[in-house]
Amino acid sequence: MLLHDESPDAVVAREDAFLVKTYARTPFHPRDGKGARLSDADGRMYWDLLGGIAVNVLGHKHPRLQKALREASSTLMHVSNLYYHPAQGILGEKLVRASGMSRAFFCNSGTEANEAALKFARLATKKTNLVALQESFHGRTLGALSLTGHDAYREPFAPLVPGVTFVAPNDVAALEAAVDANTAAIFLEPVMGEGGIIPLSDEFLFAARRVADKTSALLVFDEIQCGLGRTGHLFAFQKSGVTPDIITLAKPLGGGLPLGAVLTGAALEGVVKPGHHGTTFGGNPIACRLGTVVLEETERLLPQINALGAWFETEAKKLPVVDVRGAGLMWGIELDRPAAPVARELLAAGFVVGTAREKVLRLLPPYIVPKKALSEFLDALGVILSRADGEGSPAQEGGGSLAALGMTQNKEKAA
Ligand SMILES: Cc1ncc(COP(=O)(O)O)c(C=O)c1O
Repeated sequence: MLLHDESPDAVVAREDAFLVKTYARTPFHPRDGKGARLSDADGRMYWDLLGGIAVNVLGHKHPRLQKALREASSTLMHVSNLYYHPAQGILGEKLVRASGMSRAFFCNSGTEANEAALKFARLATKKTNLVALQESFHGRTLGALSLTGHDAYREPFAPLVPGVTFVAPNDVAALEAAVDANTAAIFLEPVMGEGGIIPLSDEFLFAARRVADKTSALLVFDEIQCGLGRTGHLFAFQKSGVTPDIITLAKPLGGGLPLGAVLTGAALEGVVKPGHHGTTFGGNPIACRLGTVVLEETERLLPQINALGAWFETEAKKLPVVDVRGAGLMWGIELDRPAAPVARELLAAGFVVGTAREKVLRLLPPYIVPKKALSEFLDALGVILSRADGEGSPAQEGGGSLAALGMTQNKEKAA
């Protein structure tokens, strides 16, 4: 194998030989992009309706992100948390002012943000039990994994952090029964992502706040997937008006670079002291500079996210599907058949989408996605679903009837 060979076959063979087999990757080789478009190694174009799993919210090669990256990388790439640098404080102030929380802590990823939240909750309450939801996803490190409501993810790594109770999403009675005087924190995703795009009801969120207050537990909202504009609000909790004690963020925050954050409210004031927690890379100055751009652009795009989302919901509900759930630009389309073969057909037709659980197509497009992209996607999905076999067909055949609609990939290169 030639080390300079970057053809798709060589890339796959090299990974197969040398990387730990953590991923069952889709045979798709994106190499370039512009806006909501991706192009693969053969120059074929796709609409990117997944955005690197909710990361690339400003699309690819956003001019402001590119400029901020050039400027920030012309000074220091890394400083460490031993010393001061302006970038963390600037982004921290923006996040605090926008959320109404009190302080920010920066890390590198979603799972790390939840680890920090877990430690902070233990420090603040001096309690250890936790309540989370069935089908939740909070990350892969041992603490966050302990809160993740998928048995298949947790079981190979048992024993995990003890004292976690899982309740069904939106089941107020089960939540009230599970939270007691020993509960340190309730962890919720206001809109559950990996669990199949399940919005938590206002009633459930209010109940969580009420029961947390009653038992002196903390309420933690994991907004790693649903936060930072995704649902049409800068923070998903702003729709219900239920204020948590801690918010965790990551995915889009660093503009594509690794960056996570924990926002803490009044209940955490004075609790976390030097030495309790820390990270070498967290709050990297370049990632924070990009984060400031992401936040400013996202605030500007909120009306567009809401308008597109409302239109998309109406249109998607016209398709022969089981359910359409979500808000803003976070949508789950539940099918009557496995979603993975349908996602493969969509890819062959030029649409990058995700899946969640067995039968849900998951859309997390960039906030700059044009209506045309979503409209073409809905047409393509309609064609695929109208096929009689109900099981989808291999990706290579996906372009067949879609070609008639002019939806096959074109060869135009991403600018
Ligand atoms: C809601 C939620 N929490 C936590 C995580 C973990 O984030 P990361 O993969 O950055 O560790 C994810 C990732 O998908 C997520 O969707």
